[in-house]
Amino acid sequence: MKYGFIGAGNMAQAMIKGLIKNGVATHDIIVSSPSSATKLSNDLDIVAADLTTTIEQSDLVVLAFLPKQLATILTDHVAHFKDKLTISVLAGVTLTQLHQVLPDAQLVRSLPNVNSTINQGCTAIAFSHNVTVDNQQKTTQFYTKLGTVNVLPEEQFLTFSAIAGSGPAYVFNFIDALIAAGVANGLDAQTAQNITLQTLLGSSQMLQQSQRSPQEWMNIVASPGGSTRAGLDSLTAQHFNNVIKQAIDVTVNHKHA
Ligand SMILES: NC(=O)c1ccc[n+]([C@@H]2O[C@H](COP(=O)([O-])OP(=O)(O)OC[C@H]3O[C@@H](n4cnc5c(N)ncnc54)[C@H](OP(=O)(O)O)[C@@H]3O)[C@@H](O)[C@H]2O)c1
Repeated sequence: MKYGFIGAGNMAQAMIKGLIKNGVATHDIIVSSPSSATKLSNDLDIVAADLTTTIEQSDLVVLAFLPKQLATILTDHVAHFKDKLTISVLAGVTLTQLHQVLPDAQLVRSLPNVNSTINQGCTAIAFSHNVTVDNQQKTTQFYTKLGTVNVLPEEQFLTFSAIAGSGPAYVFNFIDALIAAGVANGLDAQTAQNITLQTLLGSSQMLQQSQRSPQEWMNIVASPGGSTRAGLDSLTAQHFNNVIKQAIDVTVNHKHA
């Protein structure tokens, strides 16, 4: 299986690094872009090629350039995409818009996130009507190498993007706040960071591995009248859930603008 990338920027690099980390052979990864591809090829020992070669030699082609470049980059290469499994990561570009440019490609709209680089990504995918069952499986296998996969209707992509795409930034903000609070209460910064990261990791894995909801775990940790309950009450008094909800709403609505 050969994987072609058109575009060699942040997202392509995150995905390519994730594939290599997962064990994909570097000679099975082909990348094409005006300038960055050559350096990336040298750095990661992958193959750099022109656009036509990349499309023709790949079993699966990832579109990883900027959304506004869709028509200009691909117009002269439309014929090469006939029946090609083509996975777009172009944020906000619908399957209908993709088909207008590549009418005969087997198109998948996807939204990976930055954590793909360490195989902990969270990706949404939507298949076009003409993608064969075999290519649907290939797409799922491809993204499973980078993390977890969620098949979603396109109209849910904006909400997915707010939580899985922008969400890491909000989680980093929460981590930053916990570290700062630890330092303000006497920990050195490195110790505060170590403790915070392991606490988030452990809490997330506890939720994944147990049948309990977040609310149940909150009640298990916070015994009545205890210090954790006092902290949770303080969060509630300051409308913590509403603050998060508003951040997600603003993100979703911003993307509509
Ligand atoms: N960054 C994210 O976290 C993220 C998350 C989800 C989706 N996305 C989507 O991913 C796509 C890429 O985003 P990015 O952050 O990776 O952007 P980026 O870092 O700016 O990369 C854009 C890439 O497009 C390449 N390019 C420009 N003209 C080209 C051409 N004629 N042929 C082939 N490649 C060409 C550029 O190549 P040169 O460097 O050689 O000029 C560059 O490598 C966007 O559509 C974005 O919506 C990004």
